[in-house]
Amino acid sequence: MGREPLEASEALQPLEAGQSIVARIGVVTVSDRASRGQYEDLGGPAIQEYLAEVLTSAYEPVARVIPDDVEQVRRTLEELCDEQACCLVITTGGTGPAPRDVTPEATVAACSKMLPGFGELMRQVSLQKVPTAILSRQTAGIRGRSLIINLPGQPKAIRECLDAVFPAVPYCIDLIEGPYLTTDESRLVAFRPRKK
Ligand code: MTE
Repeated sequence: MGREPLEASEALQPLEAGQSIVARIGVVTVSDRASRGQYEDLGGPAIQEYLAEVLTSAYEPVARVIPDDVEQVRRTLEELCDEQACCLVITTGGTGPAPRDVTPEATVAACSKMLPGFGELMRQVSLQKVPTAILSRQTAGIRGRSLIINLPGQPKAIRECLDAVFPAVPYCIDLIEGPYLTTDESRLVAFRPRKK
């Protein structure tokens, strides 16, 4: 089956010979209080710890801590995808029903196509842990050659949600022509229907 071409406005320049293919991964903490330094950012470091535990291919994290402002979240997602060339951007926080929770709206605004299965699966596994999992509107989508995934702000939700969806992440990144991610198979097996 042929690949859908990237839209001109979102296409990134192709890699030039010798250019680094170290994956860049955006880690975005969306929290008014963490961005003001009113409390320690626990979510961003928890995502980084997870990536370090699971990924065996080379990658470089690009971290941001920003307030719950829809424009600022959208601009940060766009910067990480378009300028920092992150193949994957993982957000934490701002997915609930409170007035300042706007991460899913910013994600929809930044993406050209949505992948609702990510949110569906994460809510399903989270419901085994807490009944309030249904309050998270977390989603995922594609911007150019980047996959954006929302996680709730609770640090313990990060591992629960990523364990559920991460097996599909490397293949998703293959399909959008990103770097080839590999995992520690004793920890998490990346499912690729067709091996490269
Ligand atoms: N998912 C998991 N796995 N664990 C949790 O503790 N908390 C829920 C939900 N999803 C939670 C979870 C709660 S209480 C809320 S309000 C929503 O995520 C939204 O959280 P957020 O606004 O911090 O993103």
